[in-house]
Amino acid sequence: MKRPLTAALAATMVLYATGCAIAADGEALYAQHCAVCHTVDGAGFPPNIPALAGSQGLEDPFTLVANTHAGGAYMPPFPTLGAEEIAAIASYVRGAWGNGLSPVTTEEVAALMEEVADPDAPELRSIWDGVYTREQAARGQQMARAACGLCHGSRMNGVPDDNDMRPGPPLARAYFLRVWDGRTLGSFFTYSKWTMPQANPGFLPDEDYAAIVAYALSLTGAPAGSTPLPTSARELGYIMIGPKP
Ligand code: HEC
Ligand code: HEC
Repeated sequence: MKRPLTAALAATMVLYATGCAIAADGEALYAQHCAVCHTVDGAGFPPNIPALAGSQGLEDPFTLVANTHAGGAYMPPFPTLGAEEIAAIASYVRGAWGNGLSPVTTEEVAALMEEVADPDAPELRSIWDGVYTREQAARGQQMARAACGLCHGSRMNGVPDDNDMRPGPPLARAYFLRVWDGRTLGSFFTYSKWTMPQANPGFLPDEDYAAIVAYALSLTGAPAGSTPLPTSARELGYIMIGPKP
């Protein structure tokens, strides 16, 4: 028996899908990929993570597209986002928080992406591909105990070593996989580097933050491999966080 999807219903569904895609997508994509650092209200964590509300850096769409596609000094690249998605995010950011700038088109973004594409971009990997070494994680354990354990626990389970501290969330295992699913180690690294520890963000060198990330991966059960994690957001942005395959 035929169960036809009526033309009217099909048309409504398309309308619904595209209507939402244009109106809501940019905001939802921003929430998923950008708000970790630039925050939902666009305030960011200045000075190291700039505010996007009222930012003059948004006037030329070049910076927005270059940072998002190829990464910045500490902003990770977003290699899984295509031109349409970046255009939706860019249009949202340019119009949000009273920024008052006009939307950008997918074509405009596609041309800019070509211009800024990094010819030496690493291949996309996942945390389950053996992306850190045992030695790196062992060093990270020492660093984490000293710098993060007070609040997150030296086992990174959200049970602070110091009971007087406001506990931080777990940084490993199921909680980490759930909260960071679909994001990259680049985001985890830079968020840690530029907001943690809260009283003194960025006080450790990049190598130490990367080692702490390696330790978190080892606690999560991701396998070690033969090369250490890279120590830049630009490269860590090519390592996806997600559930065990
Ligand atoms: C993990 C943290 C992080 C995430 C996530 C992130 N950014 Fe950034 N962003 C930064 C940092 C740090 C800078 C400052 C430049 C640098 O160090 O690369 C920056 C700079 C920028 C700038 C330049 C602002 C200016 O005033 O010059 C724009 C635009 C921007 N980000 C947009 C985005 C968009 C859009 C997303 C989501 C696709 C995003 N960022 C996600 C950390 C982040
Ligand atoms: C003084 C207490 C304190 C110290 C020390 C501290 N943190 Fe945090 N951390 C927090 C609190 C509270 C939060 C939750 C609020 C937030 O995200 O700012 C948090 C959140 C985080 C998050 C986001 C986790 C999530 O899933 O939302 C990361 C990543 C993180 N910390 C990494 C680190 C690292 C790495 C260190 C050591 C270099 C560290 N923190 C040291 C208190 C601390």
